[in-house]
Amino acid sequence: MNIRPARVEDLMGMQACNLQNLPENYTMRYYLYHALTWPQLSYVAEDNKGRIVGYILAKMEEDMEAGEEPHGHVTSISVLRSYRRLGLAKRLMVQSQEAMATVYRASYVSLHVRKSNRAALSLYRDTLGFTVKDIEKKYYADGEDAYAMRLSLKHLA
Ligand code: ACO
Repeated sequence: MNIRPARVEDLMGMQACNLQNLPENYTMRYYLYHALTWPQLSYVAEDNKGRIVGYILAKMEEDMEAGEEPHGHVTSISVLRSYRRLGLAKRLMVQSQEAMATVYRASYVSLHVRKSNRAALSLYRDTLGFTVKDIEKKYYADGEDAYAMRLSLKHLA
C-alpha cells in the first residue's frame, strides 16, 4: 500500500471513500479548496491498482484568534473497511503532521472526534499521543458531543 500526496484528480476518490466511511461529508468545492490552498497537507493511500483506499484531508487553521500560534487541522480521515488495522491511518496522519510542521511551521495539530468513536480515539490518543483539550457539546449534526484534541508538533519544526 502506497501513501502519497493527494492530487486534484484524486478528490473524487477521496470523496467516495469519505461517503462510505463517515456521516460528515463535504462538497467537492471544499475538497478542492483544501487541495489548492494547502497542497502538501492531504494524502491518499492507494492499493496496487491505484485505487484510493484511504485519505487524510487536512488544512491550516484560518479562523485564528489574536496571539494564537499557527496550527494544522485534520478535517477528515478514513480508511476503507477491508484495509483497516494495517497502519494506514497512522501513516497518513504522520505524513500530514510532518508537512504541517515543516512547510507551515505549525506548532500543533487539532481535530474533532465523536466521543463514541473508539477506533479513532485509540488512534489519536494511544498511538499518536493526542490529548483532549475540550469537549464541544452537540458538535455533530445528530447531537453527539465531540472531543477537541491536540498534538504538539514542536519537536518536528
Ligand atoms: N479499535 C481499537 N483501536 C484501533 C482500532 C479499532 N477498531 N483501529 C485503529 N486503532 C488504533 C490501534 O491502536 C492501532 O494500532 P494497532 O493496529 O497496532 O493496534 C492504531 O489505531 C493505528 O491503526 P491504523 O491501522 O493506522 O488505523 P486504520 O488504518 O485502521 O484507520 C480509522 C483508523 C481511520 C479510525 C478507521 O477505523 C476508519 O476509517 N474509521 C471510520 C472513519 C472514522 O471514524 N474516521 C475518523 C473520524 S474523526 C476525523 O476525521 C478527524
